[in-house]
Amino acid sequence: MPLEELDRAAEQVLRDNDRGRYTVPTDILYPFQWNWDSAFAAWGFSRFDIPRAWVELETLFAAQWENGMVPHMIFHEAALGYFPGPDVWGTGREPPTSGITQPPVAATMVRAVYQADPGQGHPHADRLFEPLLRWHRWFMTERVEDGMVAITHPWETGRDNAVDWDAAMAAVDTTGVAEYKRRDLEQVAAEQRPTKAEYDRYLAMVYFGRESGWDEAAIRERGPFRVADVGMTFILLRACRDLRALADVLGRPTEEIDGWIAKLQAGAGNHWNPDGYYDSRDLRSGDFVGALGNAGFLCWYAGIDNDRMRAHFERICGRVRYTVPSLDPDHPEFDPLRYWRGPVWAVVNALVGIGLAEAGHGALADRVRRDTRALIEGAGFHEYFSPTDGTAAGGGHFTWTAAIWRAWASPQAEGGI
Ligand code: GLC
Repeated sequence: MPLEELDRAAEQVLRDNDRGRYTVPTDILYPFQWNWDSAFAAWGFSRFDIPRAWVELETLFAAQWENGMVPHMIFHEAALGYFPGPDVWGTGREPPTSGITQPPVAATMVRAVYQADPGQGHPHADRLFEPLLRWHRWFMTERVEDGMVAITHPWETGRDNAVDWDAAMAAVDTTGVAEYKRRDLEQVAAEQRPTKAEYDRYLAMVYFGRESGWDEAAIRERGPFRVADVGMTFILLRACRDLRALADVLGRPTEEIDGWIAKLQAGAGNHWNPDGYYDSRDLRSGDFVGALGNAGFLCWYAGIDNDRMRAHFERICGRVRYTVPSLDPDHPEFDPLRYWRGPVWAVVNALVGIGLAEAGHGALADRVRRDTRALIEGAGFHEYFSPTDGTAAGGGHFTWTAAIWRAWASPQAEGGI
């Protein structure tokens, strides 16, 4: 498809997946509102319909919990057969939500939408500022350990089946998990999705949360899984910087946010694997997980430059046709089509590319943007792509891939936040 047509086609994907006050990631496979998908959708909408972008973000924050947590899924409408649905989560909320969170890209996207038209955006950013602050405060009090962000379920990271979680997942007891039917396998080939063993463990973690009444202290002390995710730490650090910039333009105090930035910046050092790269850590064992991938390459996006990470990035550029693979192709578990164990995801590419450009690594930033463009041109607005040959995988007509095209990858887009 010619480039100009792709701009219009991306807009159409966002319109088709628009359910009025929120967008679904894609019809059928993901029929609800997802947290970080929505933030990216807002960024995409901001290129052609700024009021609709604000609606997306405001709907997301309307589902915020009293403790400040913003859930990873909001079940606005019943979708028969979706698994795990509201009953499994048992959070007792209206509209129903899941009981876990997702990567906090929202502050960054609020800032991006604000910048698209500051005059129009001011009252919206002003209204969203306090909810954003409360969400970040929830992370800092409930989840930050040694300056790193702890996750209680792999789904919180948005990188569901990444190799990062394998060792910690292996220790999760699944004896209480009864038979269930997965709907995802009706839509997507099994070899492109997580395995049954992984799914059983995901459910065991959900059951623990539900039985604890989604009590953070109980989950922290006795929960089956607690890993410090390098991706979440970098994303929260960046989001705090953007929240601080918003505080400045809105005339709000910045001291508390400055304290968070300092803490997370120090925490990034605790993600440094002595083997020479940023890595996640199992907080139960203290072990590094040994998985270099696209999450670690968010260091620049978080404002941290690092020569060894750049050298790894350059090595990987030479190993794949399309950057940025979700896992190092030299890792034994690398699989170019299995979800977060190898494929390229346009949303993470945008964040990595923006970070590289801001850090002054222009040639690498251009490579990431060109590759993302080529993948979408070649295969359409798919959920993810093979880094080896660009094969499209997962769901099609995907909101966030279209949003990234419109906001960042298209030659018409500005390429920054
Ligand atoms: C999958 C992805 C997650 C995303 C969701 C909806 O679970 O791993 O990152 O938010 O789908 O697109």
